[in-house]
Amino acid sequence: MAPVSRVGGRALAALLPDVRTLPGPVYAALADAVTTLVLDGRVATETRLPSERELAAALQVSRATVTAAYDGLRATGFLASRTGSGSFVTVPAGVQPRSSVARFTTARFTTAGDGPELIDLSCGTLPAQQNSRLADAVQAAAADLPRYTSSDGYSPAGIAVLREAVAARFTERGVATSAEQVLITSGALHGVDLVLRLLVGGGDRVLTELPTYPGALDAIRAHGGRVVPVPMAAAGGWQVAQMQATLRQAAPRLAYLTPDFHNPTGALIDAESRREVLRVARQTGTVVIVDETFVDLGYRAREIPTAALDASVVTVGSLSKPVWAGLRVGWIRASADLVHRLAALRASIDVGGAVLDQLVAAHLVGDIEAIAAERVAQLLPRRDALLAAIARELPQWRAAIPQGGLSVWAELDAPLSTPLTLMAAQAGVIVVPGSRFGIDGTLERFLRIPFALPADRLDEAMGRLAAAWGQLDRSGASARRLIVA
Ligand SMILES: Cc1ncc(COP(=O)(O)O)c(C=O)c1O
Repeated sequence: MAPVSRVGGRALAALLPDVRTLPGPVYAALADAVTTLVLDGRVATETRLPSERELAAALQVSRATVTAAYDGLRATGFLASRTGSGSFVTVPAGVQPRSSVARFTTARFTTAGDGPELIDLSCGTLPAQQNSRLADAVQAAAADLPRYTSSDGYSPAGIAVLREAVAARFTERGVATSAEQVLITSGALHGVDLVLRLLVGGGDRVLTELPTYPGALDAIRAHGGRVVPVPMAAAGGWQVAQMQATLRQAAPRLAYLTPDFHNPTGALIDAESRREVLRVARQTGTVVIVDETFVDLGYRAREIPTAALDASVVTVGSLSKPVWAGLRVGWIRASADLVHRLAALRASIDVGGAVLDQLVAAHLVGDIEAIAAERVAQLLPRRDALLAAIARELPQWRAAIPQGGLSVWAELDAPLSTPLTLMAAQAGVIVVPGSRFGIDGTLERFLRIPFALPADRLDEAMGRLAAAWGQLDRSGASARRLIVA
């Protein structure tokens, strides 16, 4: 099979950091940077790389350097060669293409017991609370289980008790919902994936915010969707007029939006903006899917739920952020008809979620307000500690105060997010570049910094990031493509 696409030397060079400025041998830095692009999905697998000579010229390095880098990529399984087809990128078995780049590079750079203790800022998520209600819920679920074991245990739409609990929670929030309108999923991303699988066909357009949650971008592309990104306003929030114009021009099949504490900016969208976007989406026949994964982690009053403004909105949510991502329980709220179709689809994929996990969730959903309040009390000082550490260590960066969620979206004073993450990995800080939250390698001027860790860890991380930032050569940065979102 021939590679499906090709990247030229200049195009690849434009995606790469200036590898000559990174520490260590240039060939190793080049191999790592290409690996990063592949794992980020910015160079698709099966893409043919330029010849060694062409890339050497584009990067102004010796051909031997590129040869050594390609050899290294072959050795790690990221490059393969076929006679007559050149060398193309691939992903070795066992590596999850969606896994954080930074995690991977760190594994390469650090060895056990060697170097500073690792600080992982790659994920905006929390461990389960100690002494949490989770343990109680697990016990209660175990006691419930015998009532289910005489059935076959398959429930593509979810077990009734959890569907009812989720419906009750929506109703409590002002969105009248019946259990038939709820489908239980294995987390919010699973919910997004199911909706895409049902509604999006090859080449269909899907409007997203830019930046947005990378998992959703991956899912859209996996289903053959074409991402149509609309930049967030510089001051935070949606650019409503631009979103409306894009809806009208592109008439996307679907819009994936996160108005309730957007990942990564933490923005909360006001009711009027939601109404305005929904009004045009109705005209263009665009199905709006709202991801409420962070809705309970707000540092200010919530807005009206989007589904309360328009009955056709499809909402996904989960217990991953307020409770624990390891539970893998989420939901879709939609019309009963759509839920029915989604359940039929799901029956052909994994037949349904684990009954025990759903029982655990059923004991937690009713307590979500209290659980989230504890989380917010824990997170608020961490958020403020992170903002203070950024202001202290990197005063030239700009960081808006997130209104909810688990991360700060920092604007750097040079578009060097990817080189920073490579450098930071060597200093033992795992962080994901801004470009992972967009498409086509944009957003290099931004960095998503989660504040899920305790304040002292965040202080330490920012000290290390500041040192790494100080070591980067910014001289070539202004020549790079600048995309300000
Ligand atoms: C916006 C958004 N949606 C969905 C998810 C995934 O959630 P879940 O663990 O429920 O699949 C995340 C995880 O970070 C997220 O940020």
